[in-house]
Amino acid sequence: MAIVFEEKKKKWILETINMGYVFALDKEGKLKNVYWGSKLPRFEDYPEVDDLVVMDRYTWDDEFSVRGEKNNVEPCLKVEYYDGVRDVVLNYVDFEIKGNQLIIKLLDEQYGLSVKLFYRLIEKYDIIERWVELENSSDKEIKIEDIKSASLYVENSEKVRLNYLTGMWGSEFHLRKEKINEGSKVLESRVGKTSAYMNPYFAIDYDATEDNGKVYFGELAWSGNWKISIQKRIYERIAIIAGINEWDFTYILEPSKKFMTPKFVFGFSEEGFSKASQNLHHYQLDYILPQDKAHKLRKVLYNSWEATTFNVTEENQKILAEKAAKIGVELFVIDDGWFGQRNDDRAGLGDWYVNKEKFPNGLKSLIDYVKSLGMDFGIWVEPEMVNPDSDLYRKHPDWVINFQNRPRSVERNQLMLNLAREDVKQFIIDFMDKLLLENNIDFVKWDMNRHVFESGWPEVESERQREIWVKYVWNLYDIWKYLREKYPHVTFENCSSGGGRVDLGIMQYADQVWTSDNTDPFDRLEIQEGFSYAYAPKIMMGWVTDWGGKDTYPLEYRFHSSMMGSLGIGADLNKFSEKDFEIAKKQVQLYKEIREIVQEGYQYRLSSVAKERYFAVQYLNEDKSEGVIIYLRNPRRFGLFDRVNLKLKGLEEKSIYKIYEGVGEEEIEVKTLSGKALEERGIIIEDSSKEFFSTNKIKHFYSRVLKINKI
Ligand code: GLA
Repeated sequence: MAIVFEEKKKKWILETINMGYVFALDKEGKLKNVYWGSKLPRFEDYPEVDDLVVMDRYTWDDEFSVRGEKNNVEPCLKVEYYDGVRDVVLNYVDFEIKGNQLIIKLLDEQYGLSVKLFYRLIEKYDIIERWVELENSSDKEIKIEDIKSASLYVENSEKVRLNYLTGMWGSEFHLRKEKINEGSKVLESRVGKTSAYMNPYFAIDYDATEDNGKVYFGELAWSGNWKISIQKRIYERIAIIAGINEWDFTYILEPSKKFMTPKFVFGFSEEGFSKASQNLHHYQLDYILPQDKAHKLRKVLYNSWEATTFNVTEENQKILAEKAAKIGVELFVIDDGWFGQRNDDRAGLGDWYVNKEKFPNGLKSLIDYVKSLGMDFGIWVEPEMVNPDSDLYRKHPDWVINFQNRPRSVERNQLMLNLAREDVKQFIIDFMDKLLLENNIDFVKWDMNRHVFESGWPEVESERQREIWVKYVWNLYDIWKYLREKYPHVTFENCSSGGGRVDLGIMQYADQVWTSDNTDPFDRLEIQEGFSYAYAPKIMMGWVTDWGGKDTYPLEYRFHSSMMGSLGIGADLNKFSEKDFEIAKKQVQLYKEIREIVQEGYQYRLSSVAKERYFAVQYLNEDKSEGVIIYLRNPRRFGLFDRVNLKLKGLEEKSIYKIYEGVGEEEIEVKTLSGKALEERGIIIEDSSKEFFSTNKIKHFYSRVLKINKI
């Protein structure tokens, strides 16, 4: 059994296939975390409370740290009671096991604050989900100042290293690795959304590699302000505290009301980073993504944004649609500019009626045309925003997030609707209903292009204004939930100026995400590499565009870069030559041949683009019979005689595999070897030297897609 309570030791043991997680009651009736790591052979092998390293008079290792008593770990819970008391004293009440779920009940009896700690085990992927529910069982209000989802502890050591993802607009998901020293390291967002600056993912390792060593990792399912603190003292275990950011946050919990935190998901791999990310990917596919579409293949889409920007018209979209259909695109998406007076980014946001000058026949004529070409139809919306120059803002200036008597700062010329308000939520539901009921739409790209600045909500009493940060996100989720249930045929893509709102929270409602507005096929590789640590390839949309210059990158390179996840095309097809169309058609066909393995398979990073002369990613299906390698050169580190020895991963040692290239019937054999040989001696990829001697030109951007087949 996965969850065991040892009565004698008052110890809860949670086990997945390879991981053990244990906490126990100490003599004073406090819950102490005693272990997180490799699963041990016997229950009695796990440590006891007495085995903890306690170095001082303060307490450490609390399973749910609070501001109160002698705790010295960053608190998960800070409250103020009606009489000014800020000391939280939680005592254990009892527990409940329901299948793979454990609930621990705690109580601050004097003030009637009940706390439930939830644990859900995902055995197959060595993952545990944790969240917390607070309930006010008193007759007075309780002011919550901080409520995190979990505190965790990992082994302290000289070698301990933190891995996280950082970036900015156009440069998201850059992986950082750094030594953890004493003090606190804070990963967070304070801009009202997940943000491109940091992503709510962390991993802690002790010099692990892709294939070896212990990796402890976690992700938070929250699309608003979040925080993950890593706190180290000289001798104790390292504490990790994660949840909603307490910055500018308070919440008044009324009598008999509850507050539920987002899930914090954490896991453990003893086989390095590769296994850690594979487990996260497959956990996301099986447990997080909307299950009706989680295992359906993502369609190859064309998005006309980069071709026509705001100048969309029925005519120019029809021309692009025809061209997209020619190369095998399955879903045609019109982006910004189809509504209101939206001729640039200065006006029209909020006015969600079809622009009659651009679409005199409404959207119907275009949609029918797209469908007659055999493609699905998709549309862009940015429901959370309003331009000051819009009918909506003129009618409802009070609907935006603002402080009275203070400026309303714009970003990208837009203000943010206050989604925490019920009338605003209803407005969004109503216009989305109208759009989706009146038009035969199969796909929605939901964008969100700014940060929260002046976070006021003047219509509510001042002590409730800070609730805006969480109520906004709850309502956002409610809307997505409503739309998904009502329109099950629609696929939803989440975008926030690229990858500014990618997290497990929004992924419970979105089928895929727009990774970055940066579509330079080389620059993107580092973004995609970082993304792969935390999120599944299937949800990672990558478009083939003209970024970086059509002459710089061969069209094949651009396609191969975008094939690492779900493929899209955003290039201006009006500028394509006949040859470009031919290449594009062939590449789309190639992608369709490999996509099941890319989207549903197991991903192995064969190199790091940040460190190597090339970036290569391998994908393998579940039964290890078929695979794909996508190889792209990094010319920043090239050698003239470029030969790369690529060692494959995850194959069955004794089986024989054929490595070959080709689309359709075409088959150019590269090598046929045993799985063991492909892992040990590898294959050689040769690129520029031959080209150089015959033409005196080096192909800076060289790429290949190889197929793997067990014979
Ligand atoms: C954002 C998105 C782009 C595009 C534009 C439209 O920048 O990230 O993909 O949709 O908005 O205005």
